[in-house]
Amino acid sequence: MSKILITSALPYVNGVPHLGHMIGCLLPSDVYARYMRMMGNEVLYVAGNDEHGTASEVGALKAGMDVQAYCDMNHARHRDTYKDFELSFDCFGRTSSEQNKEMTYHIFSQLDKNGFIEERTVKQVYSIDDKMFLADRYITGTCPYCGYDKARGDQCENCTKVLEPTDLIDAKSTISGSKNLEVRESKHLFLNLPKIEEKLRQWLKTKEAFWPEVAYSIAQKWIKEGLQPRCITRDLKWGFPVNKPGYEDKVFYVWFDAPIGYIGITKQWADEKPEERNWKDWWYDAKDVRHVEFMAKDNVPYHSITFPATLLGTGEPWTQVDYLKGVSYLNYEGGKFSKSENRGIFAEDAVKEFPADYWRYWLMINIPESSDTSFTFDSFAGTVNKDLNGVLGNFVSRVLKMTASKLGEQVPTGGDFTEVENELVKNLQQRVDAYLKYMNELEFRKALNELRAIWVEGNNYISVTEPWSVIKENQQRAETILRVCINLIYIFAVLSYPIMPKTTETMLAKLGLTTKDMPLLKGFDVAKEINFLKPGHKFTVGEPLFERISPERLDELKQKYGSSK
Ligand code: 2FM
Ligand code: ZN
Repeated sequence: MSKILITSALPYVNGVPHLGHMIGCLLPSDVYARYMRMMGNEVLYVAGNDEHGTASEVGALKAGMDVQAYCDMNHARHRDTYKDFELSFDCFGRTSSEQNKEMTYHIFSQLDKNGFIEERTVKQVYSIDDKMFLADRYITGTCPYCGYDKARGDQCENCTKVLEPTDLIDAKSTISGSKNLEVRESKHLFLNLPKIEEKLRQWLKTKEAFWPEVAYSIAQKWIKEGLQPRCITRDLKWGFPVNKPGYEDKVFYVWFDAPIGYIGITKQWADEKPEERNWKDWWYDAKDVRHVEFMAKDNVPYHSITFPATLLGTGEPWTQVDYLKGVSYLNYEGGKFSKSENRGIFAEDAVKEFPADYWRYWLMINIPESSDTSFTFDSFAGTVNKDLNGVLGNFVSRVLKMTASKLGEQVPTGGDFTEVENELVKNLQQRVDAYLKYMNELEFRKALNELRAIWVEGNNYISVTEPWSVIKENQQRAETILRVCINLIYIFAVLSYPIMPKTTETMLAKLGLTTKDMPLLKGFDVAKEINFLKPGHKFTVGEPLFERISPERLDELKQKYGSSK
């Protein structure tokens, strides 16, 4: 048994999670965590919310709330949504916790002690009416290059030129609209990345053979361009006050304490049951731990460069990432998801429309692994109707209904296997081995295609053997076929669990089983499992597993959630 530490990037608490967030990090990490547990490993699956920064301050201001109360409210909203999506976190916490503060202070002090922190004076835009320094994206004005009047302080969306806020003509605060702005000097602390660069380079080299190409090449590109010192403090109220004399009125930058949050959240969890849990078993001098991180591609530089460098700079034996799964973007009907423009389906609405497993399946079989992908309702309805209803659901209904009506609600006796069954077992074993291999390699699209192919094998088997005709002349043979088919339902249920846990529970319940009856996936032996349910074992037919999406319903969904832009 190995120890697998799995982290999902921590979504900003002020955002409303949409399908892109779900597939970017949360859902694949859950599928992997469930899979790894079923392989017999000891798993710790860590997630939570990223709470600090201007975005939370501004969100609270707009909502007319105190920042803490605003974060409490949104954190609960995220937690409920993730629960509805069946995400099986071991710990789900917050970067604003006391435990994370303690970790952040410790790591900062180590970096400072080791000479990796330097002071610099920077010029920043201060909004006199908002009484705060403005982050670049909270300033807009006219682009000096193309005249676009909604250019942001960091970049002009129109001509893509990178800007300084002071370049903008007629700049204003996006928070209040005030133009009463001035440039002020402020002293800040920087993480001296160039000083850690060599150590980081050496560390990265050890990852080349193991990280996926996407993640490794992003890290390499950054390193090749040369690392710059990074400012890790901000002039804000909401955040951890900097634990260094002269800086107490500043807070740490959100991206400094966010990844430390993985450790802080683990400590939050350990502190709930100190007699049985220890965060150090996972994070500190934990040589037996394999750490796998999940994130959208824009988070890769922080997780492959800045955070590893931060940990290296402490000179302490922190657990570093062993495998980094970076996921490309999911768009909505060819455009962007946008809450403000009411376009796209957001996670909390999605589960009100259909059970989580419908989304989980569509998202995982379409995960943007190599390039960006679009969610479309046409594709969603097609997949639900074809794969879930047509292949899996139909097989389960057909088999159970036929058996119940011809032979009663129990596994029939039948006789020995013939060549057809031997062939089926052989093909299925090959498919199962491929499915497990792809899951091990975090090649989810390929894994999901194997899973679907496994369900198809069941459909092919029943089409070829035709138990509905055979029963007229040879009841024993028909019984054998249906006994095999009922055991296939059991096998399909077990294999589908990482992707569609509720569907698995429903399938198992039809067979009078629970998830506790599932075997480990490690060494899954089709020849053995196909004989798991013995003659006489009771089952119930129950309701169909899935609902078909009609053309009318499809139109309604498209209307309700907005079309492409
Ligand atoms: O991009 C984001 O949503 C960030 N909040 C991710 C942070 S991941 C980790 F560092 F906390
Ligand atoms: Zn421009």
